Amino acid sequence: MNYYFGVDYYPEHWPQDRWETDAALMEELGIRVVRMGEFSWAKMEPREGEFHFEWLDQAIQVLAAHGIQTVLGTPTAAPPAWMVRQDPDILPMDSHGLRREFGGRHHDCQSNHHYRQHVRRLVTAMAARFGHHPHVVGWQVDNELGNSHGDLCYCPHCEAAFRRWLQQKYGSIEELNRAWGTAFWSQEYSDFHQIISPKVTPNGHNPSHLLDWKRFCSDLVADFMRFQVHILRQYCDPKQFITHNCMGFADKVSYFELGKDLDFLSHDQYPGGYFAQPPHQPNQRLAAELDFIRGCKGKNFWIMEQQAGITGWECMGRNPAPGQLGLWTAQSVAHGADTVVYFRWRSCLSGTEQYWHGILPHSGKPGRTYRELKEVIAGLRPVLEEVQDITTPVQVGIVYSYDQNYAMQIQPHNPKLTYLGQVMKYYTALYRANVPVDFLSDQEDFSKYPLLIAPLQYLTNPALEQKYRAYVEQGGHLVLTMRTGVKDETNLCLPHTLPGGLADVLGIEVPEYDCLWETTLPVQWGTKLCRGEQWCDLIVPTTARALAVAAGEWYAQTPVITQNRFGKGQAWYVGTEPDEELMELLMGELLRGANISSLGDTPQGVELAFRKGREQDYLFVLNHTEIQQQISLNETWADREISLPPYGFAVVKSADHQE
Ligand code: GAL
Ligand code: ZN
Repeated sequence: MNYYFGVDYYPEHWPQDRWETDAALMEELGIRVVRMGEFSWAKMEPREGEFHFEWLDQAIQVLAAHGIQTVLGTPTAAPPAWMVRQDPDILPMDSHGLRREFGGRHHDCQSNHHYRQHVRRLVTAMAARFGHHPHVVGWQVDNELGNSHGDLCYCPHCEAAFRRWLQQKYGSIEELNRAWGTAFWSQEYSDFHQIISPKVTPNGHNPSHLLDWKRFCSDLVADFMRFQVHILRQYCDPKQFITHNCMGFADKVSYFELGKDLDFLSHDQYPGGYFAQPPHQPNQRLAAELDFIRGCKGKNFWIMEQQAGITGWECMGRNPAPGQLGLWTAQSVAHGADTVVYFRWRSCLSGTEQYWHGILPHSGKPGRTYRELKEVIAGLRPVLEEVQDITTPVQVGIVYSYDQNYAMQIQPHNPKLTYLGQVMKYYTALYRANVPVDFLSDQEDFSKYPLLIAPLQYLTNPALEQKYRAYVEQGGHLVLTMRTGVKDETNLCLPHTLPGGLADVLGIEVPEYDCLWETTLPVQWGTKLCRGEQWCDLIVPTTARALAVAAGEWYAQTPVITQNRFGKGQAWYVGTEPDEELMELLMGELLRGANISSLGDTPQGVELAFRKGREQDYLFVLNHTEIQQQISLNETWADREISLPPYGFAVVKSADHQE
C-alpha cells in the first residue's frame, strides 16, 4: 500500500466535532496518511497504568472513513508531569550537573530505569491496542531522537551506563588507560568507578575520553530506540512498518545505526530554517540532507515532516513565496522521498509552536497554501507512483563518518574548520555541477562508485586503510584530504609520518603543516590563482604529481593538491580546504578523471536531480531563484527547452519513452 502524501495531525488540539471537517478537507487535498500521537502521552495515560486510547481510536476511524491511514508515534519525547514529579530523576542533567526541568519536551534521561519502565508500559499498551488495527499502517518511534539532547544527559544513571560501556569495550582498566593515554596530566584510573561522565572541567578535557563519550551517547540513543522497536515487533502485525524521523546532519545519534533496526528512515525537512537560525537553509544543504538520509539506509525514505508554512517558535522565518512549498516538496521527491508528510495540518492555538504554521491557518479556513499544495499533490502523485521503491543508481560517493565528525568537534584545529563544513564544500561543487551524490559509511562497499570522496579521514585503522588501498588498486578514483591518518580510533596521535599507511597509495609524505587561523593561503593551479582555507599540508611528493602549489608564505611552491596513479586507479590528496574557485577546478579534474557526466548545465540556483522509474527515468528541474529561468536539456530528455516561473519546477521524462 502506498500513500504518497500525508499530514501531521494533532486531533487532541481540537474539539472532536472539528475532526470530520479536517478529514474531509484532507481527503480533498489528496492526503492518504496522517502521523498522530507522538506528543500525547498525558492524554493516553493521564495516571499511571490508566490508559485512554478511545479518543485516538475515534480519530483513526474518522480519518479512515475518508480513506486516510494512520502512522502512530510513540510519545516518549514528552513524559507527562505526573511521571516527572513521581520520579524526578528521569529529568536529564546537563554537563554542569544541573537538571533540565519539565515545561518543554525531551526532558528525559534515556538510561534511567524508571523511565524505561514507564516507556515499556506505555508502548506495550499502545502496541496491544493498535498493533493489529486495520487502519494503523506503521509506527514512528519517539520523535527526532537526539533533538534537545546536545548537552544531555550526564546524570548518575548515564554515568553508570557509560562505565559499563567502557568496561565492555576495553575489558580492563589498564587497557583503557593505554587507549586514552591517561599518562598525560596524571589521569590514570585504577578502577572503572573513578571514570565520570565528562562534565565541565576548569580547562581542556582528555580528547579520548570525550570521543568515547560521544560514541556512548549515540549508542545510548540507538539503544533507547531499539528498546521500543523490540516491543513493537513483539506485539504488532509485521505488516505495520517502523520508522523514525531523523534530522539530516544532526549528530547526537548515528542514523546509520538507527537505520539497521527500522524498515526505512524518515526525515524532517524545514527549508525555511528553524526559529533559532536565520531563515532559509542553502539549497545545497537541503539537497545534501536528503541524500544523506537516503544514504544512511541505502534506501528511499519518507519525509515525515515537510514544511507547510512559516516556521517559528519565538521568532519566525519568511513566508514561503508562491510556489516555494511545492518546489521544496519536489526537491524531497527528487532526492528519494517516496512519501511526503506535511507538518502540520493546522497552525495550533496554544503552546511553543503557535507560529510553526500548518497547511491551514489558525482560522482553519483553507487558503493559499491549501490551494497550492492541492495542485502540487495532484501533479506529483503520478510521478511518485512510477518511482516508488526504486533505488536510483549514483556514481559519486561521499564517505560520511560520525566518528570523524566527533573527533573534529573535539579538536577543530582551526575554529572555522568543521567536518560537515568540509563535506559540504565537496558536496556543493558536485551540486553546482548537477552531479548526483550518494553518502555512505566507511563500512559499506566502495566498489560501486567510480569516484569516492572521503574528507578528513583523521581517525584511521589498518582495516580502513586496506579498504581504501584495495579500492584504488582495483581501479577506483579516490579523493583523500588534509588530516588523513593522524590518529588511531581512540583519538591518540599515531607515531608515523603523515599520511601514514596510505602514503604509497597517494604517492606523498606530509612531514609538516600549517594552520591558517584567521588567514588564507594563495594557491596556484596552472595559471589560476585561488585560495586555500583553514589549513595547509606541506606535501612532499614521492610518486604523485602536483596539481596546485602554495603561492605565498615561506613554503611557496610546496604542493598542496596532488594526484597519483596506483594499481589500476588514481588517488588525489587535497591538503587544504579549497575556496570556491579552486574547488571548481579540482572538481572538474576529478569528474574528468573518473569519467563522470553531469545531468546538464543550469543557471545558478537551478537544480537538476534524477530518479529512476519503473518504465522511464525522471529529471527534476528545480528553480530555487525568484526569477523566471530558461533551461536547455540534453537529448536524453523528452522536453529540451524548459521555462520555469520563479520557484517553479518541472518533472521531465526520458526521451525514448515519450508517449
Ligand atoms: C520538528 C519536530 C516537530 C515540531 C517541529 C516544529 O523538529 O519534530 O515535533 O516540533 O519541529 O518545531
Ligand atoms: Zn541520564
